[in-house]
Amino acid sequence: MQFVVHPSAVENATVTVPGDKSISHRALMLGSVADGATEISGFLAGEDCLATLKAMRAMGVEIEQRSETEITVHGVGLNGLRAPQGELDLGNSGTAMRLMAGLLAGQSFDATLTGDASLRSRPMSRVIVPLNEMGARVDSDDGRPPLTVHGANTLQAIRYEMPVASAQVKSCILLAGLYADGRTEVTEPAVTRDHTERMLGTMGARVERKQGGRICMAGRQALTGVEIEVPADLSSAAFVMLATIIAKDAEVLIENVGVNPTRTGVIDILQSMGADITLENGRLFGEEPVADIRVRSSQLRGGPIDPALVSLAIDEFPVLFVAAAAAKGKTVFSGLEELRVKESDRISTMATGLQKLGVSVEETPDGAIVQGGGIRGGRVESFGDHRVAMSLAIAGTIAEAPVTVHDVAAVDTSFPGFLEIMRELGVSIDVETGKPVVIAIDGPSGSGKGTIARLVAEKLGYRLLDSGALYRLVALAAKKASIALENEAKLAEIARKLDVVFGRTSDGSESIRLDGEEVAGEIRTEEAGAGASAVAAIPAIREALLERQRAFSEAPGLVADGRDMGTHVFPHADLKIFLTASPDERARRRHKQLKDKGMDVSLAALSRDIEDRDRRDSERSVAPLRPAEDARILDSSGQSIEAVTQTVLDWVSEL
Ligand code: S3P
Repeated sequence: MQFVVHPSAVENATVTVPGDKSISHRALMLGSVADGATEISGFLAGEDCLATLKAMRAMGVEIEQRSETEITVHGVGLNGLRAPQGELDLGNSGTAMRLMAGLLAGQSFDATLTGDASLRSRPMSRVIVPLNEMGARVDSDDGRPPLTVHGANTLQAIRYEMPVASAQVKSCILLAGLYADGRTEVTEPAVTRDHTERMLGTMGARVERKQGGRICMAGRQALTGVEIEVPADLSSAAFVMLATIIAKDAEVLIENVGVNPTRTGVIDILQSMGADITLENGRLFGEEPVADIRVRSSQLRGGPIDPALVSLAIDEFPVLFVAAAAAKGKTVFSGLEELRVKESDRISTMATGLQKLGVSVEETPDGAIVQGGGIRGGRVESFGDHRVAMSLAIAGTIAEAPVTVHDVAAVDTSFPGFLEIMRELGVSIDVETGKPVVIAIDGPSGSGKGTIARLVAEKLGYRLLDSGALYRLVALAAKKASIALENEAKLAEIARKLDVVFGRTSDGSESIRLDGEEVAGEIRTEEAGAGASAVAAIPAIREALLERQRAFSEAPGLVADGRDMGTHVFPHADLKIFLTASPDERARRRHKQLKDKGMDVSLAALSRDIEDRDRRDSERSVAPLRPAEDARILDSSGQSIEAVTQTVLDWVSEL
């Protein structure tokens, strides 16, 4: 799905944005381990919080969703959670994973936390280290999810100085601290959002805040269910604020927004750039400060952004980059290294997006220098990051021509209803299901096309078609059904009906289910490879698989690897690559692969074999292996996997 945002005049309006994401997560988790019911109103029914809701239910908590935003959590008390059946999938949510790791550390059962490709690439050592110190054991994939938390119901309180300013880490330790003997003390290097501390207080726990960023709490304090009214999310309000500020002449009131002082950095920064923002009707929702925010169009000025405000505006820098692009003069952002490990590397993804719209952005290791000026129209990628998608959409409201933002489905993780609210403001946005982008990668065996295609697909959030696997599957299915390779009609029928599901297992490795049975291991054998090359030479089978392969192409895009992707299956692919490597290099790679599997084959024999196969493949009459006329040739000899992947990504970004 993509947004096409047209240059628009924002109208005067009063709007309400959805509930606060951080508070909604905490209300579910703390409510679950409180005694009695917690009634939540204003809950954010976005995908991130719904993942937390599902996970708490999976641990035996009864949670009623009375309406989209009204939830009753029937707390089970500190020790009432039950071991979940299977893994807990937290989707895209770093907050859910890090906070839940803390909660699980104190349980008497083990549980595994996993998530989508973005979440599985995010650093978790920051919570694993303190949880280990407290006596819980956490297994991970070298510091990344999936995390298996082996709960220890005898956790020890610790004093911990956090190396990074992170509310998620602080909250994780406090949640584990609830289950620890003694007083847990966390020191934060800079002030971060304190919703956990406030909500623990509302639920009856004593949490002390001391000089020097120290937060102390005694363990084993029981929590009591309460009513929680979730304020509107300032991080979502920030998009409305920016759209209004950069418009020509508009005034917008955003109601009931959380203005907890640990979150209001975005207001301070925008005001320092000249934005006209006033807070009205200040009040409290429980312990959380709330106000109505009035915003008027204003001329923004660039300048250095105070790094002391970074942790108070941590999620708003994508928006602030767009503010800088709309400002007069140069804006210098620094101290933003944490942005590189959010849902995407937000320094790089925002710089890429704005540069495509003609804005001069110079990336620095910990920030960026943005030269304000005109924003051109164009096509940009969200990289699957909700805040990047929305920020670039707002840039489109003042661009010289329409801005198309690809892959915007992720917006629902934090801001369901974004589109409707933008339209209420008068912003003209069309939603298109979007013609999928197709990247065809062909090449001989050993060229690395499988690895590169997988990495490129993961990076772009595109689907992957490993067409070679389809031929291997046909061969395997034929063998299982005892059908001879000569029986072409029957084989073609198998190819047409192949019941196959491609996926990933929780540890990120390949999963291929044929008729419900896991066959990923079986189809990668030499025998299956030989079977595949036999069936691949049968025209009826190639024909039968044609439509199935084409059906893989789905928005936002597809990376298809094989031997005739660019020449035959996707003749209109947006990018065609012929990936190759010298026969020697391919033989060496294959040799290493076989050696790793414990097989000993001579390198010279492999080299000869590869040369023979190349000749057969390129000379055969059915779908001979050759580069498409419009393919770009990429020789991977002597290049690292990262370098080749990057070249492909660079070509994609030129599309
Ligand atoms: C959050 C803390 C922040 C923020 C995230 C929500 C929270 O992350 O970016 O969107 O609810 O605690 P870090 O603590 O990693 O900075």
